[in-house]
Parts: sequence; C-alpha cells; structure tokens
Amino acid sequence: MPGITLGNTVPRVETTHKNFKLHDYFADSWTVLFSHPGDFTPVCTTELGAMGKYAHEFEQRGVKLLGLSCDDVQSHKDWIPDIEAFTPGSKVTYPIIADPNKEIIPQLNMIDPIENGPSRALHIVGPDCKIKLSFLYPSTTGRNMDEVLRALHSLLMAAKHKNRIATPVNWKPDEPVVISPAVSDEEAKKLFPQGFKTAELPSKKGYLRVADVS
Ligand code: BEZ
Repeated sequence: MPGITLGNTVPRVETTHKNFKLHDYFADSWTVLFSHPGDFTPVCTTELGAMGKYAHEFEQRGVKLLGLSCDDVQSHKDWIPDIEAFTPGSKVTYPIIADPNKEIIPQLNMIDPIENGPSRALHIVGPDCKIKLSFLYPSTTGRNMDEVLRALHSLLMAAKHKNRIATPVNWKPDEPVVISPAVSDEEAKKLFPQGFKTAELPSKKGYLRVADVS
C-alpha cells in the first residue's frame, strides 16, 4: 500500500469544512488521513476527540489532519459537540470527509478485508501525495494517537535526512537513530561529523551504527 498515489481515483470529497480535491489538500504538506466506521459510535467518538486534543502537535509541525467517517456532513456536524464534550480540551478543527455510501473508503484502501467494510485505517501521506505509512485496525480496536505521533516524527526525521537514517524499535524524538545500511562508513563519516557508534556484534559485520542527530 505505501507508495500508491492518492487523488487519481478520488478527485473531490465533501467535508465538514468545504469540498475539495484530495490532491489539493495534500499538496506540499504532510497529512494524517484517518477513517472511521460511523458517527455516534463509542470508539470513534474517543478517537476523533483524541485527534482534536493532539491537533496542535500536528499543526506545530505543519502537518494537516483529515478525518473520514461513513455518514453525511450534517451527521458529522451534529456529532462534533459529543466528540468535544467527551474529551475535555479537544477541538475538532480538522475537516471530516463524508462517505455515507461507503464509496470513498475502498478507493482510499481503507477497507477491513476481514469485515469487508469500513475499518480504522490511517494513512500518513507525504507532500508528494504518496502514502508513506498505513495502519489498519478493525472496528473493535481504537488506535493509539501517541503511536501515530511517534510514527510521524520518525517519518519526518527520515525525510529530513533523505532516508539515510532510520529509527529503531520504540524510538522517540531526541533519541539516537540508526544509519541506513545503504550508507557506507565513509559516507557516514561525512554525513555525521559528530560521529557514530558501531555496535560490536558476534557477526562483526558492523551494520548496526547509531548516531545522535538531535
Ligand atoms: C465504535 O466506534 O465504537 C464501533 C464502530 C463500529 C463497530 C464497533 C465499534
């Protein structure tokens, strides 16, 4: 799924803010696009509330949010007061796409293949309109917004370093990163003048190199 281009098959969407072409919304910035099975449902109410609470974290980094739920715009607008009331401090400032006929979610690869219906899918879309990362959760499992933010930080960090670095298990911002296997030691010395450490492992292959880039 990562790498597919959005917008070719879904030229225009109706949302709680205005109608727009997905490509126009995505252009030139990162976007977190997240789908929901339906309005006035418990898990979705908590998830959209959490996104509203985290919205400033995304805005600070120039990242846009875009929700989708399988009901119409009026239903979304009627639902927003419940979302904000349930999660104190939450403001649903981001648009929510209407998809009452479930026509858009298949085109965005947001279908749960087991339930054959709407899922809790989430795509992080790059400024080139390509999907860089996807999660697909069943309707019974709410997503972890800390993980969404953590994964976004990792993508932004890798993009900043032109994918010459990667982030290891459970990485968090300000923690050391690893150097991509595609980078030779000679290149790594130039890219990381502050130095890097090569883990001493039984294989002696020298492939696990850690650098502090914060
Ligand atoms: C929910 O948001 O709570 C939900 C939606 C669809 C199926 C199950 C739960």
